[in-house]
Amino acid sequence: MVQTAESNGVAWREQLAWIKEQGPWTLDEHDEKIIPDYYRQPFHAYEDGNLCWESAWEGEIASRAVGARNYPKYGAEGEDAFRGAFDEALASLGAKCPPGGTIVDLGCGSGISTRRLAAAHPQAARILGLDLSPHFLAVGRRLLELAPEAEGVVAPVGQPWVQPLGRDRRIELRHADAARTCLADGEADVVCLSLVIHELPPEVTRQVAAEAFRILRPGTGQLWLTEMDFATDGFTKLRANPVLFSLIRSTEPYLDVYADYQTSEQGPAHDLREVGFGAIKLAAATGRHFALLATRPDRGVDARAETIDDRRAETAKADSHLKTWEAKAEGRAERYIR
Ligand SMILES: C[S@@+](CC[C@H](N)C(=O)[O-])C[C@H]1O[C@@H](n2cnc3c(N)ncnc32)[C@H](O)[C@@H]1O
Repeated sequence: MVQTAESNGVAWREQLAWIKEQGPWTLDEHDEKIIPDYYRQPFHAYEDGNLCWESAWEGEIASRAVGARNYPKYGAEGEDAFRGAFDEALASLGAKCPPGGTIVDLGCGSGISTRRLAAAHPQAARILGLDLSPHFLAVGRRLLELAPEAEGVVAPVGQPWVQPLGRDRRIELRHADAARTCLADGEADVVCLSLVIHELPPEVTRQVAAEAFRILRPGTGQLWLTEMDFATDGFTKLRANPVLFSLIRSTEPYLDVYADYQTSEQGPAHDLREVGFGAIKLAAATGRHFALLATRPDRGVDARAETIDDRRAETAKADSHLKTWEAKAEGRAERYIR
């Protein structure tokens, strides 16, 4: 993956050396007991999965590389096009955060999605990122400290970090399980799940959906979910290649079960409706990804009879993702496929 990334303009080794130098790296106090077993698996070819420094240091670099693969014509800036496509799809579905609102980014990692949410929603009062990896959170907090001093000044990509960085005191990164956040009922105006549920067993996705529902404000609170779409041609073909897919599966323990779940009638949209969400809408975001918006109805309103407004066919996008054979060194699994 390092070579593919560097040939796509992402200076992987240089950036990794830079972030490692920004230590000393120590974990903030956190409660080990909240980390569930499913999370302690090897992920992304790291033996300790998300619970090690290597994965935390490389996470934002890998994300840049994934973006470059999804939108190769933009080189190292492909991630901005990739994530921007999710923002556009969500906006087309009616995504809105009210002035003074609270946005909760579940599964925030080291905070790429959190910082993007903060930059895109200056009207929000608080942006709270929650993640189970104390390592990712430590890197995320350090990156916020290293961000340019002046509020609102955003360091350009690669100087000094591979991702845009801006100091923003509205952001807080917290160690928590997305299925048990400890937030109050109705505390959030927006809950975001950006590229998270493909890393969860479906029963955990259902628990996270119920928790998102509980913490959203009744009547207006919105869930914004963005993910891989295994109903698209690109991922269908990838999955149909047994050798390739078994290599990928070895780095993404729940991807196969996610693919089955996401493409079934009883998939994420169905489960969101089951936990009580209404006005559920889906649109294509890229040639291989979708965006979903759902709203928590007012207390006492039962939305379970509503139809799901699935606009993926009419909003389908061209598949700009690098072909697998262009993106993959022979016989080696890539760490991240999204
Ligand atoms: C692929 S990353 C996505 C990170 C970020 N949202 C983004 O858009 O780049 C998935 C994240 O979900 C986190 N995660 C998985 N299960 C979780 C859980 N139960 N609670 C909180 N975070 C979780 C992982 O630690 C990881 O940081």
